[in-house]
Amino acid sequence: MNLDLLGKRALVTGSSAGLGEATARLLAAEGAAVVVHGRDKDRVEAVAASIRAAGGTAGTALGDLATDEGAADVARAATADGPVDILVTEWNDTYNVNVVSGVRMIQHLVPAMRERGWGRVVTIGGGLASQPMNTHPQYNATLAARHNLAVSLARDLKGTGVTSNVVSPGAILVEATKELVTQIGPDRGWGRTWDEILPNAVEALIPNDQGRFGEPDEIAAAVAYLCGAYAQYISGATIRVDGGLIRSAF
Ligand SMILES: NC(=O)c1ccc[n+]([C@@H]2O[C@H](COP(=O)([O-])OP(=O)(O)OC[C@H]3O[C@@H](n4cnc5c(N)ncnc54)[C@H](OP(=O)(O)O)[C@@H]3O)[C@@H](O)[C@H]2O)c1
Repeated sequence: MNLDLLGKRALVTGSSAGLGEATARLLAAEGAAVVVHGRDKDRVEAVAASIRAAGGTAGTALGDLATDEGAADVARAATADGPVDILVTEWNDTYNVNVVSGVRMIQHLVPAMRERGWGRVVTIGGGLASQPMNTHPQYNATLAARHNLAVSLARDLKGTGVTSNVVSPGAILVEATKELVTQIGPDRGWGRTWDEILPNAVEALIPNDQGRFGEPDEIAAAVAYLCGAYAQYISGATIRVDGGLIRSAF
């Protein structure tokens, strides 16, 4: 893809692992200067160093986005070498971490995007926002809040040149997913080895048209598309990347 991201600066929150890491790597490969973020210094620096080793430009920002001070530290570090044009937000936890953290970063970074007349906010939502499961209602509800918030933001950004959209993953195979499935697989009769467990876990937990879990790079590609020049006419939209796990037509 040539997404015209040279000269753009992107902060990807929670990019020391999982979907955020894949997204930071892809945006850097597409020419953006990325800011890798997380709370664990070693992990953040390792991801940034490997992006630089691959020829990309990467800085770092450390901080717990569950607190006002942590969010202010992250915004300060992320803008130390220039303004942020692209904000990709995602966290693991309940309301404060999952929703209010996004609001904190939007408040810090979007006003300057408005002034410059160009910007991207991409929120990571999830299929459980529209199709909640029977457990973890607190988590399901935070995803729904993120989808809703992103659309409100899009309307508020009318005429500014800044867009706000959602990428909604299905079940993506990050380390934590693999650990969970490996742990519960034998008790559920799915098998003992990963190769035995995998197809049964897909069928039992996430039946979808592709018959597999998604990969972090598949989320990163959708985020990168929304960040690029081709997507200027897309705002307030959701791109589902879930193999057809969510059955709704809209
Ligand atoms: N994986 C899936 O199947 C899936 C599906 C739908 C939606 N999602 C959403 O996608 C997002 C990422 O999921 P993932 O699977 O990639 O998770 P992950 O691999 O566990 O990565 C989470 C990232 O968030 C950072 N983080 C966690 N708490 C933080 C806090 N309080 N302040 C700042 N950073 C924090 C972590 O870094 P540190 O530990 O260094 O702070 C790490 O970089 C989540 O919001 C999740 O709801 C995932």
